[in-house]
Amino acid sequence: MNDILKKTLKELEITQREFWNIPRQTGNFLNMLIKIKNTKNMFEIGTSNGYSGLWFLDALQTTGGHLTTVEYYEKRQNVAIEHFNNCGFKNRYTALIGSAIDVIKELPEDEMFDFIFIDANKREYIEYFNLLKPHLLPNSIICADNVNSHREKVQPFLDEIISDSEFQTEILDFTGGLSVSYKK
Ligand SMILES: C[S@@+](CC[C@H](N)C(=O)[O-])C[C@H]1O[C@@H](n2cnc3c(N)ncnc32)[C@H](O)[C@@H]1O
Repeated sequence: MNDILKKTLKELEITQREFWNIPRQTGNFLNMLIKIKNTKNMFEIGTSNGYSGLWFLDALQTTGGHLTTVEYYEKRQNVAIEHFNNCGFKNRYTALIGSAIDVIKELPEDEMFDFIFIDANKREYIEYFNLLKPHLLPNSIICADNVNSHREKVQPFLDEIISDSEFQTEILDFTGGLSVSYKK
């Protein structure tokens, strides 16, 4: 991890609550998982100011992978883009603006991901999952944040993915709760 990235992550942690960023523990864990999995094409729903994206891009730099990240608010995503570029990740990401459901529906039919991270509208997790299922490669990972802190809103998603025989799921007791699912 380069020094500018280390410094930027520390600075962003000061405003973590304001931008609803993942906890550092989740960022570090996902960074490791992306590398272990040798992830090549990752999709994130909910860019915010780019805190989680920086953890992902650092790992994707190691694997030679790429991140596509979606955000509703352009102003917020512009901040993320600035952080991504300042930290040396200019050609490693695609930042998309719009409502996640619309953006996913517009994805090319043959665009396939091997790692998906869900962290936007909690009630929509179930729709993101159903829409993204055809875009998941075998042997891929799908993680979702806030599954404990927003349990009621994400319950339909958890019910669906836990009962789906194509997926194996565990919920990690990190702050907010992180679901980690493996697609066979
Ligand atoms: C919890 S924050 C994401 C935090 C980010 N993953 C991080 O850890 O740095 C959720 C973000 O999703 C965005 N968002 C909420 N609903 C959305 C939607 N339907 N489509 C796209 N983005 C959405 C919000 O504007 C917000 O910036």
